[in-house]
Amino acid sequence: MAANDKVKYGIIGMGMMGREHFINLHHLRSQGVSVVCIADPHLQSRQQALKLANAFDWPLKVFPGHQELLDSGLCDVVVVSTPNMTHYQILMDIINHPKPHHVLVEKPLCTTVADCKKVVEAARKRPDILVQVGLEYRYMPPVAKLIQIVKSGSIGQVKMVAIREHRFPFLVKVNDWNRFNENTGGTLVEKCCHFFDLMRLFVGSNPMRVMASGAVDVNHKDEMYNGKVPDIIDNAYVIVEFENGSRGMLDLCMFAEGSKNEQEIVVVGNTGKGEAFVPESIVRFATREAGREDVQTLKAEDDRIKYEGLHHGSSYLEHLNFLSAIRAKGAKVPAVDLQDGLISVAIGVAAQLSIEKGRFIAIEEVMEELNCIASA
Ligand SMILES: NC(=O)c1ccc[n+]([C@@H]2O[C@H](COP(=O)([O-])OP(=O)(O)OC[C@H]3O[C@@H](n4cnc5c(N)ncnc54)[C@H](O)[C@@H]3O)[C@@H](O)[C@H]2O)c1
Repeated sequence: MAANDKVKYGIIGMGMMGREHFINLHHLRSQGVSVVCIADPHLQSRQQALKLANAFDWPLKVFPGHQELLDSGLCDVVVVSTPNMTHYQILMDIINHPKPHHVLVEKPLCTTVADCKKVVEAARKRPDILVQVGLEYRYMPPVAKLIQIVKSGSIGQVKMVAIREHRFPFLVKVNDWNRFNENTGGTLVEKCCHFFDLMRLFVGSNPMRVMASGAVDVNHKDEMYNGKVPDIIDNAYVIVEFENGSRGMLDLCMFAEGSKNEQEIVVVGNTGKGEAFVPESIVRFATREAGREDVQTLKAEDDRIKYEGLHHGSSYLEHLNFLSAIRAKGAKVPAVDLQDGLISVAIGVAAQLSIEKGRFIAIEEVMEELNCIASA
């Protein structure tokens, strides 16, 4: 695909995130991008997609299911933004389809390690397909700035990464799929794969073992769906030990609306410390030698962002990045690949299991075979 070739997208799943992708892609229209088809079994979601398409003056073909969309041959790239428990089958159908479709799949890659591994295996046999996983927190300007500072060596060798997410409860979703672990993979997979991905990126190493404590303490206790009360945890502490000796810690609270920032990320190396705050969009860092008096405070911005959307411009940058990998025709790999997707899920699964068992869980226990990590 040359720089100005048209790139036709299809979106599978047109709920909150599907519409977010649709709007982001519209902001990339000057780069030859268009959304030509969508698939969703839910009437209201299809109607909302048509409303957006009309507003953007984009002719749109609408399908009830992903198989019809794939068989139509209308698009070159698909975005999968369906509930977590549907990712596996949809990805397998895309990968096994005779027509190659590049894929941007929302996080988490799948809800179980076994399913992630089957997808990784299937994709290996389709080198003509690029798959990027939607771990988009990497692109949030303050996070990207902190990654840049850490990777430049300004704080030395990373020893500790502490990530605090204090936010509002899970939102209401179509058919309430996000209220149950069996659909989401559990809160520490569904939500926190983002943070485990960041920890791994900061420390530059793979996880070894995980210890967690968490519970359902405040949210959703008075809700009931088909006679069942939600089982998704709303707070947890998770410790992750990495192969290179670095440590990560996640502090998650989903009944913390009274927080100035939703995410606070602290990375400490042997010579300095860096911090990122979202949504304040501020980064602070200093060396140990410079000390408190010399802590630098930077406002993180990215001029490329044409649409802030729900995630501080990270979805826009994610699409920009994936588009450039698609246009490079094999000369460039997706920035966030299937292995990243798999390992971020594995840490979340280990954390969920740790809460259940009340002990450290070795990543080997959830990965079954070590060679999956070794090739990362
Ligand atoms: N990147 C992020 O930070 C972020 C934020 C929110 C959600 N997500 C992820 O995006 C995905 C979608 O979440 P959402 O918030 O949009 O949920 P949602 O409930 O708002 O929308 C899901 C849509 O998928 C449709 N759907 C269900 N099964 C389908 C199928 N087999 N084929 C096609 N469509 C189907 C539903 O009818 C619904 O319209 C999830 O994987 C979620 O974890 C990512």
